[in-house]
Amino acid sequence: MLSPYQFILRKRNRLEHSAEEIRDFILAYAADKGVESYQMAAWLMAVWFNGMTVPEVAALTQAMIDSGDVVDLSSLPGVKVDKHSTGGVGDTTTLILAPLAAAAGAMVAKMSGRGLGHTGGTLDKLESVPGMRVSLTPQEFLDQVRRIGVAVISQTGNLVPADAKMYALRDVTATVDSIPLIASSVMSKKLACGADCILLDVKYGRGAFMTTVEDARILARQMVDLGNHMGRRVRAVISDMDQPLGTLIGNALEVREAIEILRNERPGSALETVSVELAAHLLQMAEICPTLDQARERVRELLVSGAGLRKLAEMFAAQGGDARVTEDLSLLPQASIIEPVLAPESGYVTSIHAQKIGFAATALGAGRQRKEDPIDPAVGLEMTHRVGSKIEKGQPLAILHANKPETIAPARELILSSITIGPERVEPHKLIEEVIE
Ligand code: URA
Ligand code: CA
Repeated sequence: MLSPYQFILRKRNRLEHSAEEIRDFILAYAADKGVESYQMAAWLMAVWFNGMTVPEVAALTQAMIDSGDVVDLSSLPGVKVDKHSTGGVGDTTTLILAPLAAAAGAMVAKMSGRGLGHTGGTLDKLESVPGMRVSLTPQEFLDQVRRIGVAVISQTGNLVPADAKMYALRDVTATVDSIPLIASSVMSKKLACGADCILLDVKYGRGAFMTTVEDARILARQMVDLGNHMGRRVRAVISDMDQPLGTLIGNALEVREAIEILRNERPGSALETVSVELAAHLLQMAEICPTLDQARERVRELLVSGAGLRKLAEMFAAQGGDARVTEDLSLLPQASIIEPVLAPESGYVTSIHAQKIGFAATALGAGRQRKEDPIDPAVGLEMTHRVGSKIEKGQPLAILHANKPETIAPARELILSSITIGPERVEPHKLIEEVIE
């Protein structure tokens, strides 16, 4: 075995690692046996500068998976599908596409995360439904998916412990934004969850990890190749996260928007469009529908008929949640202060900085700065305009939902600084830039 020193030196000097030396280093670090945090930190920084070859990333991903347990979905019938978003603001697609895909016959066995920084997390949104449980035992998880075709829960068991340790170090050593490190981190977790088909929603823009479409494309390509290499069907959609995707931002607010979409009350909205498109890709990948066009049509039917909404209600009930929220939105937590932010001038909205909007929601209490921070499920904001729309001075640009009066001024400042208004109409980015498989 190479010493940690020798291993780091090889990456520093741009030599290629063997799969075996990567495995030894990662497993020793994960087990606290002979690799110290400062050595891992030094290696991560060497990777940040020097990159990794495709075989190196594959070996890293496999070693990370082997640091813990994997979920075995083989006892479930049908095609098991999973979806992952690289994260964004107003990115509520899971709550819409998971019930739609399940209503079409896919087995949606999904483990989600919590929100951090400016991005929201599906688990926090789900927990705003009164009574909802997101931590199920592995057996409960499998039973629920077998029975109703869908479960969205927090990670069970000891999945990819190497990632949790490495991510915490990356977070404090300026090594998060490295494509091979992101690809191995995301894919090790997705592969450990055991689905046959994995759909990746890789976001780009000012609310995303990857700010340019070129970087998003490289990351997407690398994750698709990794998944295929490990025998799974993987596809990536590159989608816009320059402006927020949904209209409502905040936990209960995003559940509300998902319900409204599944009630067919927001036809043609950006969130609906992207969610339907992602669900259609899942159905085609799972070979439930032979073509993407047929899959789109099937998803639309399930949305319009209310089958998707009924499946969401079934999922809430199965996980202890109050399914009546799908009929009566007033049963969701409500904020006590509703306050508009008014446009300072007339014109066209020319840009909305998604990350700053996410920080505004965090300032109101909807998100967390640190992992241990509490969140308020009721608060957040409603965006009344998208890029390209016309606005008059004094009209609302956004509506704040707050519980603490002192959070209003900072949120208002962030919103005003994140939206630009100009005399000429500009075209927003395409919602979906391309599909990589
Ligand atoms: N999300 C992850 O899970 N890992 C990363 O490295 C970046 C985003
Ligand atoms: Ca997420």
